[in-house]
Amino acid sequence: MSKVTVVGAGAVGASCAEYIAMKNFASEVVLVDIKEGVAEGKAMDLLQTSSLNGFDTKITGTTGDYSLTAGSQVAVITSGIPRKPGMTREELIGVNAGIVKSVVSNILQYSPDAIIVVVSNPMDTMTYLVHKVSNLPSNRIIGMGGALDSARFRYRLSEALGCPASDVDGMVIAAHSDTGMLPLISKATWRGVPVSEFLSAEKINYVVEETKTGGATLTKLLGTSAWYAPGAAVSAVVQALLCDQKKLIPCSVLLQGEYGQSDVCAGVPVILGKNGVERIVELELTDAEKEKFASSAAAVKEVNEDLKNVL
Ligand code: 2OP
Repeated sequence: MSKVTVVGAGAVGASCAEYIAMKNFASEVVLVDIKEGVAEGKAMDLLQTSSLNGFDTKITGTTGDYSLTAGSQVAVITSGIPRKPGMTREELIGVNAGIVKSVVSNILQYSPDAIIVVVSNPMDTMTYLVHKVSNLPSNRIIGMGGALDSARFRYRLSEALGCPASDVDGMVIAAHSDTGMLPLISKATWRGVPVSEFLSAEKINYVVEETKTGGATLTKLLGTSAWYAPGAAVSAVVQALLCDQKKLIPCSVLLQGEYGQSDVCAGVPVILGKNGVERIVELELTDAEKEKFASSAAAVKEVNEDLKNVL
């Protein structure tokens, strides 16, 4: 029996529930929302696709009844407001911090052993907040930003290379923010061959910039933030945890000396399995990358200062 709770039945939460169900790896997904009837409605709508899409996952929706989430192995927090065009993720902290704090205590009341996956923005700061308010061991708190940003990076690389995204390997580390993201071009490959063998400096720069502003570009087009890739990225993280896959995925985790940082959550490659973060992988970075990582972490720390009101 593998049970996942997804708090927030907005576009990201619902899309995450849909991908989890479609991949058929969990026995139950519980969707929770505060808006009367929304989680129940989305759960029912999704369930009515089960015979068409061939999945057996049970999907339950509830307006705030956390007792239905009891015994979840993984809980995903998507609650809070998304950004509007022109906003940064950091501007959401005032509203989202209070929401995330209360969601964490509701989850842990019924699922004290759950691994928590944080999606709400600003994601690195919300991940740090979960540490502060829950006191859970650091392996059980995971911010999903790097999984999403790396998918966007691979997409942009595949577009520039003219090849399928499945042929491309690449990861984005550091903060999940427009300015703090660090797409690691030095380690990106087309089936093991460095992408710099195929792409000009100008093209590489384009890929990096489009990756960093990937979320903002979509927010401008959609009028709100994206949901398909965020939902799919979360579902991949949840699958790695529930199915003990030992996948290497960049995620935001509490750094305690790794990458020269401490007391901050930022994206780094981690191995995910049934125990949550089973290992933080320390990469050899170039001097320029080290510098960018440090200033990205410093910017997250500055945003974390705004948590004073809720801690
Ligand atoms: C994004 O980048 C939701 O922050 C998320 O689309």
